[in-house]
Amino acid sequence: MSMNMNESVFPNQPRIDARDKVRGAALYAADQALPGMLHAALAVSTINRGEVRSIDTRAAREVGGVRLVLTHADMGEYKPAGHVLGGGFAFQSMQPMLESGIAYRGQPIALVVADTLEAALEAASLIRAKYEEQPFQVTLDAPARDIVPQQGSPLPQQMFADKVAGDADAAYAGAAHKLDAEYLHPPQHQNPIELVSTVAEWRKGVLVIHEGTQNSGAIRYGLARQLNLDPARIDVISPQCGGGFGLKNSLQMQTLLAAVAARKLGQPVKLVVPRSQLFHDASFRPASRHRIQLGADASGKILAAIHEADQQTSRHDLFPASYADMSARLYGIPNFRGRERLVRTDVQTPGYMRAPFEHPAAFAFESAVDELAGQLGIDPVELRLRNDTQADALTGKPLSSRFMAECLREGARRFGWSRRDARPGSMKAADGAAIGWGVACGAYKAATSPAIARIAATRDGRILFTVAGHEMGQGMRTAIANVLARRLRVDPRALVIQIGDTRGAPQHLTAGSWGTASVAPAADEAAQALLDALAQLAPGHDAALKPAEVLALAQRERIEAEVRRKAPGQPDAVYGRLQGGMPAPAGPVYPDFVSMSYAAHFVEVSVEPVTRRIRVPRVVSMIDCGRVVSPVTADSQVRGGVVWGIGAALREISEVDPRYGGFLNADLAEYVLPVHADIGHIDVGFIDRPDPLLNASGVKGLGEVAMVGVAAAIANAVHHATGKRIRRLPIRIEDVL
Ligand code: MOS
Repeated sequence: MSMNMNESVFPNQPRIDARDKVRGAALYAADQALPGMLHAALAVSTINRGEVRSIDTRAAREVGGVRLVLTHADMGEYKPAGHVLGGGFAFQSMQPMLESGIAYRGQPIALVVADTLEAALEAASLIRAKYEEQPFQVTLDAPARDIVPQQGSPLPQQMFADKVAGDADAAYAGAAHKLDAEYLHPPQHQNPIELVSTVAEWRKGVLVIHEGTQNSGAIRYGLARQLNLDPARIDVISPQCGGGFGLKNSLQMQTLLAAVAARKLGQPVKLVVPRSQLFHDASFRPASRHRIQLGADASGKILAAIHEADQQTSRHDLFPASYADMSARLYGIPNFRGRERLVRTDVQTPGYMRAPFEHPAAFAFESAVDELAGQLGIDPVELRLRNDTQADALTGKPLSSRFMAECLREGARRFGWSRRDARPGSMKAADGAAIGWGVACGAYKAATSPAIARIAATRDGRILFTVAGHEMGQGMRTAIANVLARRLRVDPRALVIQIGDTRGAPQHLTAGSWGTASVAPAADEAAQALLDALAQLAPGHDAALKPAEVLALAQRERIEAEVRRKAPGQPDAVYGRLQGGMPAPAGPVYPDFVSMSYAAHFVEVSVEPVTRRIRVPRVVSMIDCGRVVSPVTADSQVRGGVVWGIGAALREISEVDPRYGGFLNADLAEYVLPVHADIGHIDVGFIDRPDPLLNASGVKGLGEVAMVGVAAAIANAVHHATGKRIRRLPIRIEDVL
């Protein structure tokens, strides 16, 4: 367990759902075993682009126990839900099986429903289609007509235009010291342990969806559009989500199919998307290429930075990129120019994967900063400290709080950075392994989503609380419990916390590291509103009384309160978006300030002398996320982020074969991740100083900043160990032979 620099105001309380999870009592969507429930399986396209000419379903229908086979011919009455960034609800605008067109290999072409999973799988494997094939493109090397500059594109320009401060090109041209390098990040797939899955049932005309999601609101309103149904007749229930990481942040393609099948059959239907299909039918981190130019003076002051990124998108959607938003804000660089272009490829639409832009941007930018430090002969920690700032480089607004320098200084102290010999290849272990020490920083926007929170106290001692939020293993329920228990002075076991459930409060997307910063202040305000209501109920009551004791005194069974919270500067219209299942977050730019979280990562690598295998024996990560609300789950978040950064630097890549399309290594045997034996010592520390401006709880965000910069720190450490600068992830043995 790590130590915080300051004692947190919140107790080191265990996860409130830990016991249920360990005993298997926490139910995930696919754990539902409803009476009469049927099982579904998908048949998918074997070509990468074209059109289905005919589908032969006869053999499938003859399998014993098969109850239904659906193809696009049966789906004419349903509509797409639209892309979540285009006023819709889904991760891509194209809903498979509504038309005969094929946009990517692995796209579903038929759904089979049977009494058993085995029968459904067998029948799905017997479906044969005839196609008309068209040429396709799956790599970043696309013709010019398929490259779309974001500036001037149909995307909302206030968010996705070029990022400009000062005159970067002129300042770069005149700089005494220059660096110009290109970095490549591969496509990757997050693989939450809980597979993408839906259980759909119709209860007296009400569609009930059980699905692990980050966005039960989008599922409700997206399905309502697809099915032409009143949203009030759709309930989405997601008490647990077994990992989301951005993949489950909007309506997925299987939900409609399960709902239609359940309606046609009059029985509940379970559809679990197998791991291999997840690689093709859920979003992923797109490939990206980054050119970084830095211009500095001899003292190490960076005068100009230019960040140009090309990112893969699909042919049917523009999935916007925001790499320069992070690199522009990492330091106080007076002249900055960032531009992004999207490269159309024939894949499912890519999407958000933990630190979607910030992780690849930091790999590129923080590698470049390390290269610059080497060129100037300045220690890379010192170079970063010389470029620290307290104002936002893009807007000039003050930062609400920034303790990145403290992260660097405390991280260096814990790591023992002063013992580093700067010469590459100079540090050796006893067994001859080359030792490298690397550092890199990260930043991530501190965003906020609106919330309508409802709280009730009952005479039997329970506190019922509901708010927009999803428990994806990050510990949201525990954070809420910490806030409520502290304010109401009740035992956390008395709390009933309903989140991820459209039957409670209106549900908003939980993503972008805004979860705790949005629900903690809402929970605190709701608890205070409840205390105020109790004070009115029994004026002058003993302040030591519990809510249930006050209710008894007043002869009341129950008391309720509701609060609404939105980000600084947001209009009241955001509540309408919240109540319509639409994203409505704000940040990092607020009217009077800009708010970001920060990280500094220190990494040791060892490169084995004969095999050249790269190991990561130890990491020190210092984080500024404002106030830490739940020390146990915050520590775990950072640990997970660091492990993910190690995977991104040394293991993960979704392999593409330009001849056939699709992703080749579509399972957890061949999509290589770090295992327990790959992970050494991870020392996590928090600055734990409350942000004074963003919200009353002083909370910024944590989940994503935790991994931003880790991969760069590893690449920088590999350079320090071997003298080899690897500008393409993952770094492999053959790179350091
Ligand atoms: Mo997260 S990658 O913002 O859903």
